[in-house]
Formats: sequence, structure tokens, C-alpha cells
Amino acid sequence: MQLRIALFVRNKVMIKLNRRIAALKPSATMAAEARATEMKEKGIDVISLAAGEPDFDTPERIKAAARRALDEGRTKYTTVSGVTDLKKAIALKLRRDNHLDYEIGEILATAGCKQAEANVIAALFDEGDEVIIPTPAWVSLAAIVGLSGAVPILVPCPEGNGFLLGPDELKKAITPRTRGIILNSPSNPTGAVYSASHLAEIAKVALDADMWVLSDDVYEHISYDGLPAHIFTVEPRLRSKGIVFNSLSKTYAMTGWRIGFAAGPKEAIAAAARLQGQNSGNPNSITQYAAIEALTGPQDDVRAMAEEFRARRSIVVDRVRALPGFRLPHIPPGAFYAFPNISGLIGKTLRGRKIEHGDSFAAIALDEARVAMVGGNDFGAPDHVRISYAASRENLNAAFDRISELLKKLD
Ligand SMILES: Cc1ncc(COP(=O)(O)O)c(C=O)c1O
Repeated sequence: MQLRIALFVRNKVMIKLNRRIAALKPSATMAAEARATEMKEKGIDVISLAAGEPDFDTPERIKAAARRALDEGRTKYTTVSGVTDLKKAIALKLRRDNHLDYEIGEILATAGCKQAEANVIAALFDEGDEVIIPTPAWVSLAAIVGLSGAVPILVPCPEGNGFLLGPDELKKAITPRTRGIILNSPSNPTGAVYSASHLAEIAKVALDADMWVLSDDVYEHISYDGLPAHIFTVEPRLRSKGIVFNSLSKTYAMTGWRIGFAAGPKEAIAAAARLQGQNSGNPNSITQYAAIEALTGPQDDVRAMAEEFRARRSIVVDRVRALPGFRLPHIPPGAFYAFPNISGLIGKTLRGRKIEHGDSFAAIALDEARVAMVGGNDFGAPDHVRISYAASRENLNAAFDRISELLKKLD
């Protein structure tokens, strides 16, 4: 009888979920990468250009620090916001790379940048508050804002302007409910980078509107014209209502280790730490010690990885520009993505399957050419696809050979 009831519950009764969770979509980038992995596990020879993570191994000096931490028994809970030595290392990094001074109490170590953003955004914003997100944008930003109860306001940034938000576009998006803006430079998915003078214009509008400025800097070290300017260095008055988000994921090839941080005014950071204390606690203790080495040790490995990405970017730009139906007017100045426009392919078909947007092209490319990419829909740019060049030069060339062959077969 009990079994029958259980089956009935499983098969027939819709579980009532929390309203915000019920509306939550899975991350499009993670879904694309998962599909490619599933096909690989079935023995299908897929080349993935979908991943949002460096393909390099974590540098040895960082792995050695983790081994030492294990041997020293650093296996217990730590302070929720991270051990003091890690927060000191983060403060040093912010001074060295961004010319920003933060005290230990203004820093929260987290399980990756995503958790830093989720906890700070939940701590700062309320139901109905509006948070501006220049778009195309990383898929999770709108989801994270929505989960806090605030409303993501997606402001389109045209390809013609290099996918950058203009100060006038920002002014037009401001309403009495605007509470914040999230900047991401270099950008996922476009690779766009804001110059210091452009940031000064954005900063002026943000200051006048008295909004929070949240700066997601995860790709700062994968930037091909030097370290990008930081909006809080350009306009220090923003510091009192500004949050830096960053992580070691992309810079040190540490995506799986889960370590990142937020830095900002004490009260905001303390509120986010209270939330973290109740819902997850400290970031992984071994990872924290590895992160100290990553941030404070020699930085040659960071530069070497960025140089390899630069070489791959050249391959990708040349090969994308040679594809009929693809447009890539700007060479992306940062991150490891190209975000070409594929509207020249819309309406074409392959064995009855029609290309309607970037997502349908990505699906056809995966099934027919065994190349994984991410369609632009969830980034807010349906005519685009995101191509990650966190893949070897050999795989990049092989993937573009396959895409070229696929394009020849389209009707
Ligand atoms: C712009 C941006 N911010 C944050 C993250 C998440 O970083 P982490 O792995 O440190 O949580 C990503 C990951 O793709 C990203 O692209």
C-alpha cells in the first residue's frame, strides 16, 4: 500500500516548488558542456568549444600548497569569511593588480565568484529593486539577481559599439527603482573590455543615480592589451557603494577548486558573510591554502596561460572570419571567447532542420559536425554563438574544419 502511494506521488502529483526556483532555468553553458560530455562518454568524437574554463591543469606550485595543507591537517572548519592569511593575500592581490586598498574586514572568501555574487546580491537587494545588466551577458547574472527577488534589467549593447554599454543607454535604463548595475570586463560572452575613459563616463552616471556598482573581474588576467582599468580606481568615490567580485577559477585554472571572493564596504560584506554562514559556511579549507600560494607566489604561470590564449585567439578570429555566414567585426580584446554573429545562416536548412537562431545552429553543429558551442539565446543575443577557445590549437583547427564542411552541406 505504502509503495503504491509512493508511486502515485512520484508519477502523478506535481510537486509545488518555490516560485523563484520553479522559474529557474539550468545554466545554458553548463547544459551545452554536459551534452558534449555525455556524447563523449558514449564514445562519440566530440570537440567541445563550449567550456567556460581553461583547459590547462592547475599550476604545480598551487597543487603542492594544497598537498602541504592536507599534510598539516588543515581539514577543519575555518572562519566563514576565510582564514586571515587568505584575506591578506586577497588584499595584496587587489593592491598589486587593481590599485585598490581593502581591509581584511571588507573581504569575503567564497566558493567561487558565483557564490560571491549570489550572496552579496541576496544581501543587498530587495523584492522589486532593479539591477541593470549590460547585455550580452554571462547567463547566470540575471538568474542570480532574480533569485534575490530583484529584477534584472537587461540593457542591449549593440555589436556596432563593441558590445559596450554607452552612458546614454545607461541613463535611459535608470528608473526610480534602480539600485545597481553589474559590469563584467572582460566580458563573457563577448570578450569586450571597457577602457578607463569609458568607465569614467559610466561611473559618472552611476554616481549621479546613487546605485551600487558590482564589478565582475573574473577574466581580468585574460586580457590582451594589459590589465583592464578598474572602475573603482577610475572613480574612487564609487568604493562606498561598490563591490569587487573575482575568483581564481579562470586566472589560475582552478575552476574545480571553488574559490573566489567579494570585496566591498564592511556592512555589505558582513551581511553576505552572515548569509554564507547560514547556508554553506567557509569555502573549502584546503583550497583556501592553495589560493594563498596562487595569489602570493610567482605569477609567471598566469602570464604563460594568457599568452597561449592570445595565440589561440588569432587562430579563432582567422578561422571564424573565413566561414561563410559568420561575422566577427571586432577582435575580442579579452576572455577566451569569440561571439560571432551567424545571422547570415538563418533560414538555411540541413536535412530538413532549419537554422532559426544561434541555438539551433549550435544544436545542428553538435549533432552533425560533433562540435559543441553555446547558442546566444541565454546570453541575450539570439543571432550569435559563443565559441570558447579554451581548447588546444589542434582541436580548434579540427573543429573549424568540421564546421566548414558542415556549412557546405547547408541548403
Ligand atoms: C563572468 C563570469 N563570472 C563568474 C563566473 C563564475 O566563476 P566561478 O567559477 O569562480 O564561480 C563565470 C564563469 O563562467 C563567468 O563567466
